Amino acid sequence: DFNLRGVFRTGADGRYWFRAVKPKYYPIPDDGPVGKLLGVLGRHPYRPAHLHYIIKAHGFETLTTHIFDPDDPYIQSDAVFGVKESLLAQFQHVEDSVRSNELGFSGKFWQIEHDFVLARPEE
Ligand SMILES: [Fe+2]
Repeated sequence: DFNLRGVFRTGADGRYWFRAVKPKYYPIPDDGPVGKLLGVLGRHPYRPAHLHYIIKAHGFETLTTHIFDPDDPYIQSDAVFGVKESLLAQFQHVEDSVRSNELGFSGKFWQIEHDFVLARPEE
């Protein structure tokens, strides 16, 4: 149902913004062979909080990636080993009632600023 998903278009300058729900860690399905493997390895099934992106622009390679909350309790032990330094975003806690009203929040909120860099296709 496209729940917690969206399609957005940047401005001509490539800038973007959107409101969302702050992500939280979640477990990958562990009721099958993957769960058995994790159990044998003594690993938990959790992925740290993250936001997925698929970014497309004419003249550039499509980028499929995600960014992570560096303060997540599972940031050092992602069940699928997807975390790397360049994918850590900074979640800033904002207490600004004017800005909160402008964005339609009822109080404090979290803000992320993250730049994505797209590669040109190899010729
Ligand atoms: Fe995910």
